[in-house]
Amino acid sequence: MTKLTTLGEYVILKQHEYPHATGELSQLFGALRLAAKVVNREINKAGLVDITGASGLENIQGEQQQKLDVYANDTFKAALLARGLVAGMASEEEVDFVAFNEAHTAGGKYVVLIDPLDGSSNIDVNVSIGAIFSIYRRVSSPDGPVQLEDFLQPGNRQVAAGYVIFGSSTMMVYTTGNGVHGFTFDPSIGVFYLSHENIRTPEEGLIYSVNEGNYVKFPEGVKKYIKYCQEMDPDSKRPYTSRYIGSLVADFHRNLLKGGIYMYPSYANAPTGKLRLLYECNPLAWLVEQAGGKATDGNRRILDIEPTELHQRTPFYIGSKAMVDKVEWFLHEYPQQ
Ligand code: AHG
Ligand code: MN
Ligand code: MN
Repeated sequence: MTKLTTLGEYVILKQHEYPHATGELSQLFGALRLAAKVVNREINKAGLVDITGASGLENIQGEQQQKLDVYANDTFKAALLARGLVAGMASEEEVDFVAFNEAHTAGGKYVVLIDPLDGSSNIDVNVSIGAIFSIYRRVSSPDGPVQLEDFLQPGNRQVAAGYVIFGSSTMMVYTTGNGVHGFTFDPSIGVFYLSHENIRTPEEGLIYSVNEGNYVKFPEGVKKYIKYCQEMDPDSKRPYTSRYIGSLVADFHRNLLKGGIYMYPSYANAPTGKLRLLYECNPLAWLVEQAGGKATDGNRRILDIEPTELHQRTPFYIGSKAMVDKVEWFLHEYPQQ
């Protein structure tokens, strides 16, 4: 009989691999896991209960918040707040970081940054969505509340990162710096089981993912790279396949497993692109590197960018190493916007 390992068991099993492990990170994962299950339950009812559609509010980036954006944000916040390990949280759906000032969170060692619901535009049409998280050790004095500096750390200081994908099945995928591991949710008993241990992404992929509707606005190097992807060349198995869901988590997850590149470039009136460095790009960049892939802003390693703002955006090129190298080459060869 196959031995089934749960997410909770696995995190504890692997605990010894981290220096100074105290079991706290496993408890923190417990909070994220619980919130993921609650959000999953709600998503599965979308269409039956009044949870789809706009909430009537806007977030800090001036985007319409969907009811599920707000629900997922509140759920993750409540789950994290309930444990005493997290001193604060920053979210796509909150203007400022949230300091957890309750007595039981005093001395909490970690801060969490989160995109509680990624792919909002796909909620109402039954297409995969997700949640992305990033965890750091706080750097400010544990005697007082968390500070902005706790959240503005470069991605190379993450202690854990991952995502939940609500797709044809629900999965949680995470890294703590010892490979990337995926767990599939069994809704009948409410447990995540280890299904994808030590995920490696192919060095060379055959899929490119980009919103080609924005083609005319892209930098010259990206236009040239897209044309390269579409050229006929049997030796390199081109033309490549184009796949774009419009939920970063879902596009990333597919490319991670199959090999491919996801691009969200800068464009004329958006020099830093659309995606947010701290709670979208950094966690996925660390995951892809842990799986053997690469993530850059076209120039720099995403994980080495020193953040200056909570909701900072960055151009984003992520996926199979050979493909990201290639688009970087085009961007350097054709530097004009
Ligand atoms: P969010 O729903 O968290 O605001 O993120 C939306 C992001 C990302 O999920 C997706 O890849 C991208 O926006 C799609 O943008 P376009 O519609 O401009 O292609
Ligand atoms: Mn998002
Ligand atoms: Mn979001």
